[in-house]
Amino acid sequence: MKRESSMQEITAVASPSLALLKYWGKQDGGINLPATPSIAVTLGGLESRARVAFAPDGTGDLIVLNGREQPPHHFAPMLNELRQLARDDRGFVIESSNNFPTAAGLASSSSGFAAVAGAVARLLGLPTEPEQLSPIARIGSGSAARAVFGGFTLWPAGASCATPLHPVDFWPELRVVVVTVSAGAKSISSRAAMEATRRSSPYYEAWVRDAAALLEDGIEALASRDLEKLGVIMRRSYMRMFGSMLAADDPILYWRAGSLNALLLCEELRGRGIQAWETMDAGPQVKILTEESSVELVLEELHAYFPEKTPLVAAPGPGLRFVE
Ligand code: PMV
Repeated sequence: MKRESSMQEITAVASPSLALLKYWGKQDGGINLPATPSIAVTLGGLESRARVAFAPDGTGDLIVLNGREQPPHHFAPMLNELRQLARDDRGFVIESSNNFPTAAGLASSSSGFAAVAGAVARLLGLPTEPEQLSPIARIGSGSAARAVFGGFTLWPAGASCATPLHPVDFWPELRVVVVTVSAGAKSISSRAAMEATRRSSPYYEAWVRDAAALLEDGIEALASRDLEKLGVIMRRSYMRMFGSMLAADDPILYWRAGSLNALLLCEELRGRGIQAWETMDAGPQVKILTEESSVELVLEELHAYFPEKTPLVAAPGPGLRFVE
């Protein structure tokens, strides 16, 4: 697996983009063009780190993620785009690692592809502003279009890139408690699951229509930092996304018993006046939005259900950065 590479090496770090309103489904006419608009927050403290160098002459890409060699075709469309932009056909040696569970519905693909896009662009001497990297990272994984930015982002339906909505310090009290219900990789990739939903779910079109209708209220609730209002809209978004998946042939079911327990706990906490609003993605993990002042209590309550787990607590975090 080890190969000699040229001396020059670039390391980039990115954090995952957690969708508050979900991207689920692709439009025709481009790679990873979203059928639905999404709003997201970049999660500080969770990190994907990519180290890249040119591959030895005449050899292709070698990609190692958390110590495991990856099939190069997953990365080829994005890396080919970068090579084309730079008019440079050399291969790359890429080593990437995450400080949190990979491919388990914690948006590791968003941060992973964002970090690789940034590191390779810099190696090739291309611009590395998030605005320029967003449409390139998107080719790797849709949500990576958002992860190059810090703070809060918007990715409109059909758009080739995401745009910043609010900076990282916009909502300092906001916390995201991440409950890793099951750390194993997910049963079906988001790419395959989105395609199956589009192809076979009788609710897919309704989901796409409804997601568009949620956007304005979502943007407004976020702008006013109103967690209760935002939470209600977030819940509509993720529940309706899963509604469309459950109706697919075969049904797509990322949830596990622990996911449901965490959801019910959030409902109970809200009944007691505590702002704890959950969301989920393409995996069993549950992410709970709450305020800094309620974190201790939420953790205590979670402990009763998940005594063997230590949830991560994230705050809004920075976008792509380089390690000099
Ligand atoms: O970028 P992908 O292909 O991993 O898809 C992300 C899909 C969701 O996480 C479920 C939603 C989102 O907007 O991030």
